Amino acid sequence: MLQASGVSKSFDGRAVLSGINLDLGPGEIVAVVGRSGCGKSTLLRLLAGLEQVSGGCITLAGQRLAGLNPATRLMFQDACLLPWRTVLQNVVLAAPWPDSIKTAREALSRVGLLDRAQDWPAALSGGQRQRVALARALASNAPLILLDEPLGALDALTRLEMQSLIEELWLEKQFGGLLITHDVEEAVALADRVLVMENGRFTLDLSVRMPRPRLRGESEFVTLKERLLTHLLGY
Ligand SMILES: Nc1ncnc2c1ncn2[C@@H]1O[C@H](COP(=O)(O)OP(=O)(O)O)[C@@H](O)[C@H]1O
Ligand SMILES: [Mg+2]
Repeated sequence: MLQASGVSKSFDGRAVLSGINLDLGPGEIVAVVGRSGCGKSTLLRLLAGLEQVSGGCITLAGQRLAGLNPATRLMFQDACLLPWRTVLQNVVLAAPWPDSIKTAREALSRVGLLDRAQDWPAALSGGQRQRVALARALASNAPLILLDEPLGALDALTRLEMQSLIEELWLEKQFGGLLITHDVEEAVALADRVLVMENGRFTLDLSVRMPRPRLRGESEFVTLKERLLTHLLGY
């Protein structure tokens, strides 16, 4: 569905990404992990069509990417809700017409926030705001969601709850996703494949073939997590 071949990106002559190849199939979740500053968000912005590649090519469903695409939804660390609209209105904006209100209410119900539909975003906690952002992405019915450290600002417990919710929703809806995270455990919990990025290149491509829902205590889970960590730490 989403393909990058030989993608590079430079800013003012300084290479940030080079030789990036990526192939994301329908319904597949790929995680990209790496240290801060290695180029993860730059890659996501290119895949989203927010910025242009310096070299190589990105295609979405076989078409060369040219700017933002309605098949792709984005989710960031900040929920990016419109503060002057209610929770429901924020989700309605993304839902396809003419059933947008019904679809938005269903999505809110799915993330457990239907009872907060008439509240202002400011009245919600950070975790609840991210659940609204997730509902908005779901309501759009987009086949591809790009997530840039969506849980990065949440406390550990809320994060775990959100990870289970994303896992459940994925099992139900089978959307494709690219998840950027600095949390190796999150990557193993959610992704079908984990790519490690270092200095603007992928240096490891690891398949995660565990059935869902995944148990973090299982030996395979622990082994994969350790493998990623030792690679990242350069042991
Ligand atoms: N618009 C920009 N102009 C110049 N440099 C940029 C720009 N965007 C990102 N960079 C640089 O690219 C590198 C990678 O940034 P980024 O992709 O945000 O990393 P990550 O998300 O992995 O933390 C950093 O050195 C950053 O300063
Ligand atoms: Mg980033």
